[in-house]
Order: sequence, then C-alpha cells, then structure tokens
Amino acid sequence: MTAKSAPGFPASRPRRLRRTPALRALVREDRLSVDDLIWPVFVCDGDNATQEIASMPGVIRRSVDLTVEAAAEAQAAGIRAICLFPYTDGTLKTDDCAEAWNPENLSNRATRAIKAAVPDIAIMTDVALDPYNAQGHDGILRDGVIVNDDSVAALVKMAMAQAEAGADILGPSDMMDGRIGAIRSALEDAGLCDVTIMSYAAKYASAFYGPFRDAVGASGALKGDKKTYQLDPLNADEGLRCVARDIAEGADMVMVKPGMPYLDLCAKVKDRFGVPTFAYQVSGEYAMIRAAAGNGWIDGEKAMMESLMAFRRAGCDGVLTYFAPEAARLIRAGWE
Ligand code: PBG
Repeated sequence: MTAKSAPGFPASRPRRLRRTPALRALVREDRLSVDDLIWPVFVCDGDNATQEIASMPGVIRRSVDLTVEAAAEAQAAGIRAICLFPYTDGTLKTDDCAEAWNPENLSNRATRAIKAAVPDIAIMTDVALDPYNAQGHDGILRDGVIVNDDSVAALVKMAMAQAEAGADILGPSDMMDGRIGAIRSALEDAGLCDVTIMSYAAKYASAFYGPFRDAVGASGALKGDKKTYQLDPLNADEGLRCVARDIAEGADMVMVKPGMPYLDLCAKVKDRFGVPTFAYQVSGEYAMIRAAAGNGWIDGEKAMMESLMAFRRAGCDGVLTYFAPEAARLIRAGWE
C-alpha cells in the first residue's frame, strides 16, 4: 500500500512551507537585525597601535584613536552599541583597585573620545574591578576573601566615573550583591538619572571566559577561581532570582552570560520577566567557532550566523558578540 492510497497520511506536511526560498521567508518567525548587536572592543594604550590576542584570532586591541575609528566604522555599518574593555598595564593593578575610578583611566578616556567623535553610538562600559586588581578578581580581597560591601563601594565609584565620562550603559559584570541598587541610587543622587544599567545578572562561573582574560591582561593576575561570586553552572533558579533582584534594584536591561551554553536561561528570563534581555556570546564561544572554522572543520560564517540567530529564537533582544562587524556585514548583504 502506498502513502497516497492512505487518505490523510501523513496528517501534517510542514515540508510544504520549506519547499522554496520564498515560502521559507514568508513563514520565518524572526529576523536577526544589525540593531541586535553590541560589539565588545578591547582598548590599549598608545597611538595608532594595535595588538593581537592569540586566543581570539581576528580580534585586536586598539589604542584610543583607533578605537574611535572603529566606532565610526561600526556605526557606519549600522551597529548601535559598543562595549569597552581596557587592557590595563600591570603597574596600574593594585589591591585597592584605585585605577578603576580614575576619571583619566583608559576606559574613561576612550569613552570621552568616542562620545566627542561618534556621539550617536551607544557606549557600554564594564563595571568590575578585575582589570585593576592585583589579585585579578572582580571584588576587593581581604585575607584572601572577597569583601562584598567594600567591593560595592568601589564599584559605585567606578560606575560614577564611567557615567561622568559619558557612558550610556553601565554594565556591572562583577556579581557582588547589592551593586545595582547602590549604583542606581548614586546615579540618582548625582542627577545622572538617564544613565542605563545592563546588569550582568545571570553570570556563571565559566571556563568560556579564558580568552577574554588574556585579552584584558587579567589571566596572569588571577589566583583561584570566581566561584564565590559567579553562579554555579547547574543553578537555573538561582540565576532567575538574581535577575529578579537586579530588576528590583533598578537594572533597565539584564544579561545572561555565557550565551550558547545558557540559552535555557535566556528563554526563561525573557518569558518570566519580559524585560530587555541580552546574552553575551563570550570569548571562548567566539574562539571555538573561529578555531573550528580555521581548521576547516565547520563553515565559520554559517556557524556564526546560526549561533546569533539562536539567541533571537531563545528570546534575546540582543547579543554582545565579537562577531558583530562580520555579522553586520552579512546581514546587510541579505543573509538568510
Ligand atoms: C569581567 C568580565 C569578564 C568578561 C566580561 N567581563 C571575565 C570574567 O568574569 O572573568 C568575560 C567576557 C568574555 O569572555 O568574552 N568581570
């Protein structure tokens, strides 16, 4: 007996809508847009200087002048936001992390220079002490222990210096308790009520940050791991509680980090809270795709685009990705 002679079999033929590019486009449920991309960039000292990052092929550190140029190019390509990460010289790393709130530190100089030359691109800055900490940690240590509330006081000073330099989005990535509320109330007190906060709310203690720590020069300094403040990879409920708390404390947007291994969290956060939700496709995720593509094991462009579309499907409003310039180019060229 053939399928044809069995009326109504199969009951459903979803392949009908997959038959041609036109039909597939008609029923496509979502689109990846250049508007969804936030580009993280690494900034270093010097003039007209670039430095390669061995574990992130294709990503470079740029001096402030070249970062301004890169921001202008990103804007011309349609990218709306960049996120600054400074490479801090070892001599500026101390136990009290004072360089973090120096109005003239590398990140704040870059913010001012970009604001002056490319005023319309949104600038996000990283609020965490690790680039400035002789111990490589995101908080201040006393007798080998991270002291939460002293760290929050330092983070508030750091955040205020970034806001005063002109940052549009503060990104506290430190995972100390209470820092969103403390930063929010300091901003209000200073009359900076329009500065937005994207909380790294569900940030997991992850092996996928390895290449980033090379990129910002923190891997040599870091002793031990970050498990006393970053989340246990098995804990979804705890991640959701941190998101709820950060929203209540005044975060405008929340982030899940890393991205691809934590898409379940992205979907749950968006479903449950309905707030602007972002994922950070972190350095190790970038490095994996690059390395496999570089070896000819996967098609790098297709894998990159598929990975970014997965964030949309999971419900994210946007994604921080080192692929932003390449993805923007492909999206504008009509990638499907
Ligand atoms: C620092 C910070 C990290 C990243 C962003 N901000 C590293 C860490 O927490 O150790 C990781 C980004 C990436 O891996 O691309 N607080």
